[in-house]
Amino acid sequence: MSSSTEPSTRFASEWSRRHLLGLEYLEAREINLILDQADELHELTNGGRTKLSWLQGTVVANLFFEPSTRTRTSFSLAAKRLSADTVDFTSSGSSLSKGETFVDTARNIEALGVDQVVVRHRSPGAPGLLAKALKTTVLNAGDGTHEHPTQALLDISTIRRHRGTLEGQTVVLVGDIRHSRVARSNIWGLKKLGARVIVCGPATLIPPRIQDLGVEVSYSLDEVIGEADCINLLRIQFERQRGAFFPSIAEYAHLFGMNGQRIRKAKENTLILAPGPINRGVELTPDVADGKHSVILDQVRNGLLVRMACLYLLLKGGQS
Ligand code: CP
Repeated sequence: MSSSTEPSTRFASEWSRRHLLGLEYLEAREINLILDQADELHELTNGGRTKLSWLQGTVVANLFFEPSTRTRTSFSLAAKRLSADTVDFTSSGSSLSKGETFVDTARNIEALGVDQVVVRHRSPGAPGLLAKALKTTVLNAGDGTHEHPTQALLDISTIRRHRGTLEGQTVVLVGDIRHSRVARSNIWGLKKLGARVIVCGPATLIPPRIQDLGVEVSYSLDEVIGEADCINLLRIQFERQRGAFFPSIAEYAHLFGMNGQRIRKAKENTLILAPGPINRGVELTPDVADGKHSVILDQVRNGLLVRMACLYLLLKGGQS
């Protein structure tokens, strides 16, 4: 059942961007606008369970050139909850196999009357390329090792909903920092909102000069776990690794995995986050993934609201 609640101009009137390419390019004020819009949508839709008519008559195309479960389904449902029509494209089975280019594919789908394009691609910068080539708004759903802005926004939204603020929170990002677009977007967003960020992992998975982004570095999870208000356990990006970055998965899990024994060294109220998908038994064990510290499914629920907020602000922002 669609609600006739009038579109809210509370946050949209202060929004002016047409594309969401990364959190590097947003000001703290703009990140807070998205989070505030998501919170308002939470109230108006009973946590994303009911529909609004705010994007009625518009079309959102989800263009996924890499696999996805959470991001694709969540963007698709976010568009539907705002009454937009959706077009879902995946590269497998498409005319890419006949030689059609990435940009031609997007232009042909745009020609069907699309207003917004959500794109995931293995190449860093692919969403930026579409932002120049298309007339639609463009939302980055993950581009190679560059950024995954809506994932970081939903991570940050989850922390803010639990803690009220990011200011002064110590957030530890654990694991494959080198290959992680989620880490990069989290660092930009968390630092802009006043959090202290520690990146932690094997030296081979920490990029050189990462401190230039304002983060601290640790090579021992046991040394920093007691300081953490939030611990975000990043997936080992086996598909992006070109070499052996640690001796064995068992050794990685022993030193950097979160398990029932290690979590006892954390604060009583530490939040455990993971962007998913989880390699159970590698980044974290099932007792932690499903345990009392875990907010992993809250992240997924908040992702729906954050993506509704982004779709609405990019298309309707700055109009009143
Ligand atoms: N976290 C995330 O981006 O998950 P998917 O790859 O399933 O979309």
